[in-house]
Order: sequence, then C-alpha cells, then structure tokens
Amino acid sequence: MNSDDLNIAIVGATGAAGGTAIDLLFERKHPAGKITVMASERSAGRKIPYGDAELTVIKATADAFDGIDVALFAAGGLVSRRLARKAVERGVFVIDKGSIFRMDPSIPLVVPEVNGDDIDWHTGIVSTPNCTTTPLVMVLDALRKLAPIKAVTVATYQSTTGTGVAANEELIEQSRKVLAGEEAKANVYPHVIAFNVLPHVDDFLENGYTIEEQKMLNESRKILHDDQLLISATCVRVPVEISHSESVQIEFESNVGVEDATRVLGDYGGMKVVDDPAQNQYPMPLEASGKDDVLVGRIRKDIAHEHGLVLWLSCDNLRKGAALNALQIMDEALRRNALRPAAERTGHAAEIV
Ligand SMILES: NC(=O)c1ccc[n+]([C@@H]2O[C@H](COP(=O)([O-])OP(=O)(O)OC[C@H]3O[C@@H](n4cnc5c(N)ncnc54)[C@H](OP(=O)(O)O)[C@@H]3O)[C@@H](O)[C@H]2O)c1
Repeated sequence: MNSDDLNIAIVGATGAAGGTAIDLLFERKHPAGKITVMASERSAGRKIPYGDAELTVIKATADAFDGIDVALFAAGGLVSRRLARKAVERGVFVIDKGSIFRMDPSIPLVVPEVNGDDIDWHTGIVSTPNCTTTPLVMVLDALRKLAPIKAVTVATYQSTTGTGVAANEELIEQSRKVLAGEEAKANVYPHVIAFNVLPHVDDFLENGYTIEEQKMLNESRKILHDDQLLISATCVRVPVEISHSESVQIEFESNVGVEDATRVLGDYGGMKVVDDPAQNQYPMPLEASGKDDVLVGRIRKDIAHEHGLVLWLSCDNLRKGAALNALQIMDEALRRNALRPAAERTGHAAEIV
C-alpha cells in the first residue's frame, strides 16, 4: 500500500499544526479526495484551499472517522481525549500531536529518526513529542554515539505559532499597535509578547520549572529510553512567528571533539549543520522556517565544563516540531506494515518498551 492510497483525516485542520499538515500533504500531491478535514462546529462548512481544489471542514465526531485509515489529531487534549480512542475503535491509526498521551506507558512517543522501532508495539495511537523536545532528542541521539551523556542544560527561544493561530495573530496585532504608539493588550499570554520575551511557557510547577520545561525532561527520557538522563530547561517565548531555537549545553562522560560532533550531527537523518561563523552562517528561525531539517550550528567546546559541548539549533515547530513528524510516523508505520495495532498484526500484544 502507498501513502497515496490512504484516507487521511486532519483533526484541527483550521489550526497552526493542522494547517501545516495540509500544506505537507499538498506538497506530497496527496489526492484531495482522500483527505477529510475536521475542526469544531464553529468551522464546519469552511473551505480550505488545496491547490485547485477545496477541502470542506466538517465537525469532528466519532462517526466522521468511518472509512478513515489514518487520523492526525491536532486539536488539543480535550478533543483527543474525547475522540482518539473512538477513532481507533473504527479501525483508524491515530497520530496525536497533543500532550495527553505522551507519557502514557501504553502509547509510543516517537521521533522516527530516534525510536521508529517503538511504532511496532502501538495499540492504535502513536504520540508525537512537544515541538522543543523533537529537535533536542535528535541532537542527543546523534551525539550519544560518541560518548554517554551525563547532563543537558537547554534554553529555548520559542515562536508564537507554537501556541497556535490566535497567539501568532496577537503578536502581529500587538506589534502594529506598539509601532503606531498605541497601547498593546495581552490576551493569549500573561504579558505583551511584541518586542518582549517571556520566560514562561505553560504553567508553573511546584519545583519552579514550567510544565513545558518538565516535558522536555520526561519526553526525552521516554524517547531516548534513558531514565537517568538529566535535562534542566528554561523555556522562553520570543516574538518570532515560526521556528523554535535552542541553546544546548551537553556534558558527556568523556571528551567529545567538535569535529566528531559536527560529523555525527551532519550524518544524522533530518539534520543539517549550518556552522560557518566567519561567514555569519548559523541556524536562525527565518532560515529554518518552511524547511524540514533541524538546523544545528555554533558547535563549540564548553569552557565551563570539562567534557562539555555547546551548540545552537533552529527547527520549524510546525513542520518537524509537529506535522512533519506526524506524517513521518505514518510513513514509518506503513513501511513496517504496522498501521494496525500490534495485537491484530501478531495475534498477541507486543511488549511495551
Ligand atoms: N503549534 C505547534 O507548533 C504545535 C507543535 C506540536 C504540537 N502541537 C499540538 O497541536 C495541537 C493544536 O495546536 P495548534 O497550535 O495547531 O492550535 P490552534 O492553532 O489553536 O488550532 C486548534 C485547532 O483545534 C480545533 N479545535 C478546537 N476545539 C475543537 C473541538 N471542540 N473539536 C474539534 N476541533 C477543535 C480548532 O478548530 P476551530 O478553528 O474550529 O476552533 C483548530 O483547528 C495542540 O494539541 C498542540 O499541543 C502544536
């Protein structure tokens, strides 16, 4: 079976991540007749251009999944909680972009380049990581081949589309107001994001970290199958429309050279080294936006830690951070002949990793 043959549903098709999934399907020339676009009742009947064709949004309901092979859920946790398992009951392979299933031990959390094997034991749903976790685990997976990793300190610079369409519109509107000398009001975030940075992504936890920061630790451990890994994250929202960047400091058990690190990062699937400071070449959100690769650069020895390396990355949060990773999970499941749950394929439940 080819991916072209699949009936694909996008749930949350009018949103930032869902809209990018539609763009990616169009780039792949997926037939319009094999795409069903769903959102809330508010958007039912809305037309989404798809080349010369138009896709008509329908309300997401359990019955709407009849005849669907694969559903990409990008409509938030409540919708996934309400409909994902009902879709599975109707024979759908669900790829969920939200956070509710990510740490469920019975659901694989997958970045295909890192742990594509985990798709084999799914029971109908595969989850995709947070958009800051995805590029980080790719970098860590590449570098741990050189030496075991002891600890990671990361600071993120996250774009407004990471919060969704409404947050990005607010950035544009606030920027217009500030430039016009008018008062800008915050609605989506607790403070104005235009011409500002907010060291606050998601709610604060008792330990002083935010949920987003804690996710980077928990999700990375699950994807890398490494419960000992230590990650201290500071997640920061910045007035950038698309692409998250990260400043990453990695401490290894033994020495890792810059040349070796550059080589393994450049050889890793889905990653591109952009690292020529003399020519002002380094990853930037404007460069990463619209691209599939995670861009990595500024690779250097850490002068504050004996076996440390420091680097910088930028990654399109809507592509590899969301929709692209989801479609790659679909491709990988198809390649493994694993669209159906493990128990149906093998006659017994696969071992959960
Ligand atoms: N943005 C990213 O970079 C990113 C990255 C990774 C994961 N994600 C995840 O993807 C999901 C969507 O995020 P987003 O940024 O795309 O948000 P968004 O731009 O706000 O879009 C939300 C989408 O959900 C739909 N929706 C809301 N309530 C619904 C309901 N009751 N029934 C059906 N559809 C409903 C909306 O449809 P209406 O237009 O009808 O309201 C819209 O299509 C979230 O779970 C998020 O965590 C996002």
